[in-house]
Order: sequence, then structure tokens, then C-alpha cells
Amino acid sequence: MQLTSTQDGKSTDIPAENGVVRGADLARAGLSTYDPGLVNTATVRSAITYIDGDQGILEYRGYPIEQLAGNATHLEVAYLLLYGELPTPDQLAVWNNEINKHRFVHENVRGIIQSYRYDAHPMAKLMSGVASMVTFYPSARDIADPEARERNIVRMLAKIPTIAAWAYRQSIGRHYVYPNDELGYVDNFLAMLFQSQQLVYRADPRVTRALEVLFILHADHEQNCSTNAVRAVASAGNDVYTSVGAGIGALFGPLHGGANEAVLAMLKQIGSPDRVGEFIEGVKAGKARLMGFGHRVYKSYDPRARIIKKACEDVLEATGARNPLLEVARELEKVALEDEYFISRRLYPNVDFYSGLIYEALRFPPEMFTVLFAVPRTAGWCAQWLEGVTDPEQKIMRPRQVYTGHRERSFVPLEGRAGA
Ligand code: CMC
Repeated sequence: MQLTSTQDGKSTDIPAENGVVRGADLARAGLSTYDPGLVNTATVRSAITYIDGDQGILEYRGYPIEQLAGNATHLEVAYLLLYGELPTPDQLAVWNNEINKHRFVHENVRGIIQSYRYDAHPMAKLMSGVASMVTFYPSARDIADPEARERNIVRMLAKIPTIAAWAYRQSIGRHYVYPNDELGYVDNFLAMLFQSQQLVYRADPRVTRALEVLFILHADHEQNCSTNAVRAVASAGNDVYTSVGAGIGALFGPLHGGANEAVLAMLKQIGSPDRVGEFIEGVKAGKARLMGFGHRVYKSYDPRARIIKKACEDVLEATGARNPLLEVARELEKVALEDEYFISRRLYPNVDFYSGLIYEALRFPPEMFTVLFAVPRTAGWCAQWLEGVTDPEQKIMRPRQVYTGHRERSFVPLEGRAGA
């Protein structure tokens, strides 16, 4: 396929490969693109995650998300995302051990977290806690060194649950719980969050598995807003901590990872299934957004939402927590999926629609919901960071703009300006 641009009577051919035109070829033809939100612009080549938004397909390194969620552990998936293959039993044992060895954080990180106000949002504490890690591991700045890259990715994956859990403990004024060698990745995270007087906190295995599934579903999602932030910061030659810190900042936003917290607030505001119709009318009139609905890429049911909906029902059964908001969510989904406004715009539940209900059943406060997204997404961010910094085609990300402001104005001294 080939495009032809004609300007001032001169024609230039622009090659298109598999429907993709290269920016450099456009520039040669004197053309540029205006693409707010990068809706139709590929910024990288990637072999990590595949999404077919029309058919609702999600694969990590070619493996369907349903199979990974049904069979794997989060650390196994992290290995797959980073190295491209599922680990053998020996590789997995070494990998689990490597991660477990690095769970402790420098004691001064504790001081950083401790210094925040009692009501500081845990995402803000997580962001700064992660960004601070480069001060403890300055060798991470040497991103050309494969050994330093690998060591700091391991540290990043190992330590983020500790920082996340401590960010939570600080807000409830409880002592910090140190990592426990006897516990797996998810169990240890739950222990650091919820341990009280027990010597070893042992979570209900059904809860551990539900969280493990949620971790796998959140592990990567190609070039979303936060991954793009990680890639952009990395493209300037930055280490994994600085780059992941930027990703956490992006994820904090209510249109991205913050949506799970916003969904719960919305469900509470609606209150009961009989008020759903009124709320939907408000959304259609532009008074509110239906949080947890819609996606830039999925124009059909988000495959993660399907798995989460099932996990949500399992967790509510396991914990015995009867949450009336589940009925509100079900009714909201039913009404929206039958409504012309949502059908014509191809708006379906996304990953955030049911996850907040699971987190609430597990007794997490809403401010922690996005943190529970950030911890597993770190696996994807690290894989994307690694792919970016080792990609010979990667350049510093520096988009263009369409300038709409004034030009060549002469400076007016203060006393000469209108109203002076
Ligand atoms: N409620 C009501 N209308 C919506 C919604 C929604 N949730 N999402 C999109 N629309 C409408 C939008 O108003 C627009 O209508 P119109 O054509 O009449 O102007 C049309 O659908 C297209 O929307 P858009 O904003 O151009 O779509 P986008 O691709 O830029 O935005 C989105 C994607 C996810 C930001 C958006 O769907 C949204 O705000 N959803 C709610 C927040 C949410 O659940 N975010 C989580 C996303 S998934 C996980 C993650 O990324 O963290």
C-alpha cells in the first residue's frame, strides 16, 4: 500500500506497511499528524502484550489472559512479561527466590513514608517512595549495564509491595510489618497490610487466589497512559525507579487507574438498583461519566472485566460479605448494555467496573484501590521499560505541536499596557 501527497503540484509517495505510515516518511513529504491523546499513533514496536479491541482479546507474549489467570501465579506472569517465555520449574524457583530476597526496603524509606500527613493519599506516598529508590540504588542509573538493569528490576518488583503496604499502614497509624520469608508474593503482601498481633498472618487461600488473579489481569496492558509515561521518561535515558514513579503518577488519574476508586464512589452515590435509571439519564445528559465503562482500545467487553466479575462473585461468597452495591453494579451494567447511548458508542464494562467491589469485600479502603492496581502493573512497567531501553530504534520521545498562539509581538513596557 502506498499514499501519495500532492502539494503545490508536486507529488510524493509515502509507503505504508501493514496499514502503518512512518512519521519519518510523512516528514519527508512535508506532512505531520495532529493526534490529541495519541489515539492513532504507535510510539513503539512491542512484543509484550497483544490486544484486539474489537474482539475483546488480550494476550501476554501470545498466551491468552484467560489461561494465565486460570493457571499461573503473578510472579510467573512477571517472568513471562520480562523474558518472553514461561519459566521452567527451575527458573521459577530461582526467580521466586530472587524476588523474595529483595523484599526489604532501606530503613530510610520507612522514614520517608512516616513523614507524610495522616491523610496523605497512598498513591502519592507510593509514587514518591518508588521514585526515592534511585537514591538508595544509584547504580540503577547505568541503564546500559544489563546486570544493573536486571538487579534493579528485581528490586523494583520485590520492594513495591512493601512500600505499598507501608503507605497503607502509615495512614491507619499501625506499626510497619516486615516481609516474611515463609510467605509467597501475594500472601506476604496481605500480611504486610493486615497483620496485627499474629506471629504470622495467614490469609484465606481463596482471597489469596482472587488477588493473584487480579494481579495477573492488571500486570500489563500495552501502551496505556501510565505505560506511555514510563516509556516517555525512560526514553530520556532514565532508570527503572524514576520511570515507574512517573507511571504511578499517571495511573493515579481518575480516567486511568483511579477509575476503580471512582466506580465505588459512583455506586455509593447511586445507592440502590431502583435509582440506576435516573443516574443513566444523567450520564446521557452529560452530567456525569459512567465510571468503569468505556475504553480507548476495547470496543467490546473487556476480557478482564469478564474474569473479574466472576472473581467478584467468588470473593463475596468466600468472605460472606453481602454487598448491596453488587446489585447496583449488575443493574447498571444491564441497563447500560441495553441503552442506545452506550451501544452506539461501544461502551462496555472495563477492568475497573467490578474490581472495587472485590477490594471492598477484602476490606481495603477506597484510597488503596489504585495502589492495588499499581503493584501488579509494575511487572508490565518493568517489561516495557526494559524493552524500551534495549530497543535500538528507541529515540527520546518528543512529540510535535500545532502552534496556535501569537507570533513576533513587540514587548510593551508595564506603564504602556491597557489599564496602566
Ligand atoms: N460514560 C459516558 N460516556 C462515555 C464514557 C463513559 N464512561 N466513556 C466514553 N463516553 C462517551 C464520550 O462522552 C464520547 O461521546 P461523544 O462521542 O458523544 O462525545 C464517546 O463515548 C467517546 O469517548 P471518549 O472520551 O472520546 O473516549 P476515549 O477513548 O478518549 O476515553 C476512557 C476512554 C476510558 C477515558 C473513557 O471511556 C472514560 O472516561 N471512561 C470512564 C473512566 C474509566 O472507567 N477509566 C478506566 C479505563 S480502563 C483501565 C485504565 O485505563 O486504567
